[in-house]
Amino acid sequence: MPKRRSLLKAFLSGSIAASLLSVFYPVFRFLIPPDKPEASALSVSAGSSQDLAPNTGRIFRFGSRPGLVVRRPDGSLKAYSAMCTHLDCTVQYRPDLQHIYCACHEGHYDLNGVPISGPPPRPLEEYSVQEVGGEIIVSKVS
Ligand code: FES
Repeated sequence: MPKRRSLLKAFLSGSIAASLLSVFYPVFRFLIPPDKPEASALSVSAGSSQDLAPNTGRIFRFGSRPGLVVRRPDGSLKAYSAMCTHLDCTVQYRPDLQHIYCACHEGHYDLNGVPISGPPPRPLEEYSVQEVGGEIIVSKVS
């Protein structure tokens, strides 16, 4: 009889441990997500250069992040990370203002990516940009 009781006790302990594990393991995995390596793209296409008229901008994907390419009113190209340096909202080019704008908290950057008003504390990360065969190629500056 004592053998049967200890077997039952072991079974119940195992069941309780399994139940607790099934509840807490997903919580643990949520709180401590696995390391996900950042996309390591060093150079990407930001689309056709013909379709980007002077005084316009375009958002593109640079790995897992948004990028912004701007054809300035003089026709030259500039490219930046499109993540605002305040709280990471996506910035955009405003043709009416002729500068880069963050709608989240009224942040403004000039066409060199330097903050000129609002809360952004630092310039946008700048990328190098070239036109190759009718395509805009954006690369990280190392
Ligand atoms: S996130 Fe851009 S101004 Fe706040």
